[in-house]
This record gives sequence, structure tokens and C-alpha cells, in this order.
Amino acid sequence: MAIEDDQQVIADPIQFAHTQGDTGAEPADSIRPMPKSSAFYTEPTMSSKIHALARTRSHALQQRAERFFPGGVNSPVRAFRAVGGAPPFVERAQGAWLTDADGNRYIDYFGSWGPMILGHAFPPVVEAIERAARNSASFGASTAAEADLAERVVACFPAIEKLRFVSSGTEATMSAIRMARAATGRKIIVKFEGCYHGHADGLLVKAGSGVATFGIPGSAGVPEEIARLTLALPYNDLPAVEAAFAGHPGAIAAVILEPIVGNAGCIPPLPAVAGAPGYLSGLRALTAREGALLIVDEVMTGFRVALGGALELYGIDADLVTLGKIVGGGLPVGVFGGKRAFMDLLAPLGPVYQAGTLSGNPLAMAAGIATVSYLQAHAAQVYPRLEATAKAVAEGVAAEAARAGVPLTLNRIGSMWTWFFTSGPVTNYAQAALSDTAAFGRFHRAMLDAGVWLPPSQFEAAFLSTAHGEEEVTATIAAAREAFKAVQAQ
Ligand SMILES: Cc1ncc(COP(=O)(O)O)c(C=O)c1O
Repeated sequence: MAIEDDQQVIADPIQFAHTQGDTGAEPADSIRPMPKSSAFYTEPTMSSKIHALARTRSHALQQRAERFFPGGVNSPVRAFRAVGGAPPFVERAQGAWLTDADGNRYIDYFGSWGPMILGHAFPPVVEAIERAARNSASFGASTAAEADLAERVVACFPAIEKLRFVSSGTEATMSAIRMARAATGRKIIVKFEGCYHGHADGLLVKAGSGVATFGIPGSAGVPEEIARLTLALPYNDLPAVEAAFAGHPGAIAAVILEPIVGNAGCIPPLPAVAGAPGYLSGLRALTAREGALLIVDEVMTGFRVALGGALELYGIDADLVTLGKIVGGGLPVGVFGGKRAFMDLLAPLGPVYQAGTLSGNPLAMAAGIATVSYLQAHAAQVYPRLEATAKAVAEGVAAEAARAGVPLTLNRIGSMWTWFFTSGPVTNYAQAALSDTAAFGRFHRAMLDAGVWLPPSQFEAAFLSTAHGEEEVTATIAAAREAFKAVQAQ
């Protein structure tokens, strides 16, 4: 069901939200309108009953936000421009569920864009942050917690012998590239169309995520001289990489990639066939042969597809690895690390400069340690559970699409996947771009109104957490059954 449109409306939603924020108090449910009942369809045979949810407060908060932030957001992917409609404002979240400013509840399938693998407000993480905060939020000096988390990262990622903590994935990839250039004395970087590695100048060329979502060919403000140092090649195409090395002998410093693309929607690397190597091992061999570094960007896949990320899943080694998202347990953390010989080029040991006021922040380290140590201790349960739940929901929804006659291609690796609105296959960005984004938009809006919040772009991966279970899967498939009717009806 969708929530009826007869909710009580607070006279001044902005004032109300402000007061809540100022007091810091938990919102009192007694004064806030709650949905009358669960936000889902339970009756498979009923005709489409998706009604727009009342989002009066979210709407007012969005209008206020637009006075301050371009597009009303602090990260463009949060805007709903690609799917239509206005984004709900989130007030709180628990487990697999988000609650918006109007009291509507949603099953969360974007998980803060990846970090929330253990669900929202996971008690050990909350406690770790609370405990750390009592000792001060930041020192700007070293703490034992940094090496505590590093020990865990190195144990999960054997390719990482030494590392640095930074505060975002963008900083991690930007720093890894600087090191690769310093280590090789070369300038050119190879990346792949649809891969997103953060918003550093040289990495926005033909990037995924918001750059693909909004159809931006690169970014204004990136000097041509910088963009020219980035070669963007089709993903899953080893001959294109061979040709790039042949065309730029001795000039390519590094190849950087998402080992499983998430930022063009989910696109796995091609496996080995008939004597030809798989995509990842092919890249490893080519870069080693050519003296270029292989930078595997596991900001999204690290701890997500396996404890040791895609490197573990596919048995690949890398020169440099970048991490983010899960490693910070929901707080801002990025990592770049790799072979000692490269990492020791960093200041203060070597000539490559990199620094950060809040790098290794004690709250972020505490959240990261709580998250990663839980994953390490429970890997044998966590990853099979994520696989089973993701399989059930991803395939269940795809089956509803088939039943409704909606062309759809499901790409999934563990708990990250995308329903591409195309008959497929999707093995690179050009194929992903054939998707019917208008149909995806209709699907997204209908799902949101049924209480299921998907990433608001065809070119983003969905994620779930260990807090998702049978209830969420059943409700999501039932919602999709109705949503596909809405897709077909227009
Ligand atoms: C693979 C990958 N690399 C890098 C980044 C950039 O990370 P951040 O947004 O923390 O700067 C992202 C963000 O989504 C990502 O998915």
C-alpha cells in the first residue's frame, strides 16, 4: 500500500525540522504523523495502487536547501533529476529502513551509496563512535586506532603492504595517481568509460556516477591539458588497452579501474574464455609487461563483494589499491595503499606530498574498526547471507519484469547489482547507455511511493545490508510487481 494522502500536516515544516535539529532530541513520534500501516503491497493480484506519498516536510526542506546549495544538495547524485520527483529528506534510519521527514518509511537499497553493509545504526558502530567522541573528536596527532584499523585492512588486502588514511575516495584515487606518476616518471593515465574514481580533475574524463547520470561529457573547469593526460577506454576490452600501450610507448603511468564497475550500474569483469585471459588478469599481465602500475579502485567493492574485495574474489594482485565507504563504517575514510616500494615515496619518507588535517580521524577510525572487525569475525555468515538476500531480491524483481513484459538485464555480484532497463547484455558503458532511462525513472518513482528507495539513477548500483531479510525481500518484489505495471502504463 502507499500511505494515504490524509496525513496531518505540521503548519511550518521548516520551523519544525529546525527545532528538532536545534534540540538534538530524538523526534517524538507522538507529534509526527506516521504511516497508517506498512508501506507495501501484500496482495499480488490487486491492480496498481501506488499513490504519491505525502512529502510535505521534505518538499519544504528541499526549497530551503535550494537557497543554500546548488540544486539543493551537497552531492549531485542525491538530487532526483535523473528519475524525476523530489528526494525525501531523511530524518533517521535503523537497520534496512530509512524514515523521512514526513514519517514515511522506505527499504534502503543505496546504503549511503555503499558504506552501510551492516545496516543503519548498527549498535557496535554506534557505541564505538560514542566512546571515541568522549575522548575528543580530533587531535591532529597520531593515535593507536590508526594502526589498529590498518592492521585489519592489511589482513584483508594482501596487496596492501603500507597505506595512508584519507577522508574520501576522491583523495585516495587522486593520491594513488600522483604516486604512480612519481614512481614511473610517466604522465598518462588509462581509465575506463563509465568508471568513476571521485572528482579529481584527471579522473572525470568519461566518468560514471553523476557524470554519466547527467550526461556530462567530462567537466567544465578541467583544463584540456589535464584531460589530455587521461585516456578513457571501453571497459572489458583488452585489445583497446594493448592498442593504448602500443600508441603511447613508455608514457602510461597507470591503469586505474573499478574491478567490478558500480558507477555505470553494475558491470562485472569478463571471465577467461577459450585460452584468452579474463579481463582483470589480462590487465594485470599487460601493466606488468609495460611497467605501468595497476591501480584497483575498491572504494565500492572493498569489503562489499568479499572481505578482501574484488582482488580476493578474482584472485588478482595490484600495485596500488584504493578503499573508501565500508572501511569508514559510515564516517569519512578513504585509503590508498599498496606495495611498500611505492608507498615509501610518500612524504615524510619520500618526495611525493600528500596530507590531511582530519586523516585518520579518531571517530572515523573507531567506526571503521567496529565495522571491519565485525566483518572479519563474521565473514562466514555475513557474505553468504548478503549473497542469498541479494539473489532473492534481485532475481525476484527481474522475474516480475519478465512477467510484465518489461525488457530488463540483471547484473549482480554479491550484494551489488543493477536492473538495466534494456534487453542487454551489459558488459560496458556503451551497452549500459542503451537502457530506457525514462522507464527506469517511472520504476524508481513507483517503487519510492511503495516505500522502496532505489539509487536514483540507472547508472548506479543497488546495495543491501545484513539487516535486509525475508520481510524486505518479499515487500520489495511485491512493490516491483505493481511498479512494472506503472512502467508499462505510460
Ligand atoms: C569506485 C569509486 N571510487 C572513488 C569514489 C569517490 O569516493 P568519495 O565519494 O568518497 O570521494 C567513489 C564514490 O562513489 C567510487 O564509487
